[in-house]
Amino acid sequence: MTTTIDRRTLLHAVAGAAVASTATGTMTSAPAASPATYTPKPLSLDPKSIKGISEKVLASHYENNYLGAVKRLGAIRGQLADLDFAKAPNFVVNGLKREELIALNSAILHELYFDSLGGGGAPSGALRDAITSDYGSLERWRAEFSAIGKAEGGGSGWVILAYTPREKRLVTQWAADHTTTIAAGRPLLVLDMYEHAYHMDYGAKAGAYVDAFMEAIAWDNVTSLYAQASREG
Ligand SMILES: [Fe+2]
Repeated sequence: MTTTIDRRTLLHAVAGAAVASTATGTMTSAPAASPATYTPKPLSLDPKSIKGISEKVLASHYENNYLGAVKRLGAIRGQLADLDFAKAPNFVVNGLKREELIALNSAILHELYFDSLGGGGAPSGALRDAITSDYGSLERWRAEFSAIGKAEGGGSGWVILAYTPREKRLVTQWAADHTTTIAAGRPLLVLDMYEHAYHMDYGAKAGAYVDAFMEAIAWDNVTSLYAQASREG
């Protein structure tokens, strides 16, 4: 569901990215490239509908953290488009390309996080069979995924259930930040363990947030992402 506020903030993000992409860059003597435009996604869930994660947190998370990453990505790509790579110092290239990766992955992971919420229930069909085959049981998988989230509590990071075409299996992945995801992994389910995802609801009780997330997983969406990833693998 797309709310009115989401459309408004989306427009702000697109405008901000466009301004950022044209207002920067004084370094080039070579023709500037056209920066890639990242179009933000509307919020895929009704922020009032997630039991255990408040509308206030979800709206703030979407507007400040997700749309913030999209805006930052636009600004970084604006600077990269204007950069004269043949003359730029290594520290400038390293800095901008590192920040581009962080902002791009932050945007993508946040979209997957919001898509992971809603519905609850349990996995079905081929995904349920794959979890049982790769982890022994759904309960074993739940314990592992949940424990990784709780272990990251107090710090920050992501927990990702991914399908890896190389191994043709599921992997529960620990990620310390936006840049440590499995190469060629296909993320299916994403848990955000940064404090902005839960602190207003739970304070330092990260474990209670993880428990709420585990009960609110949008299994229909995860099942469909698995079907696509394993088919295209
Ligand atoms: Fe986040």
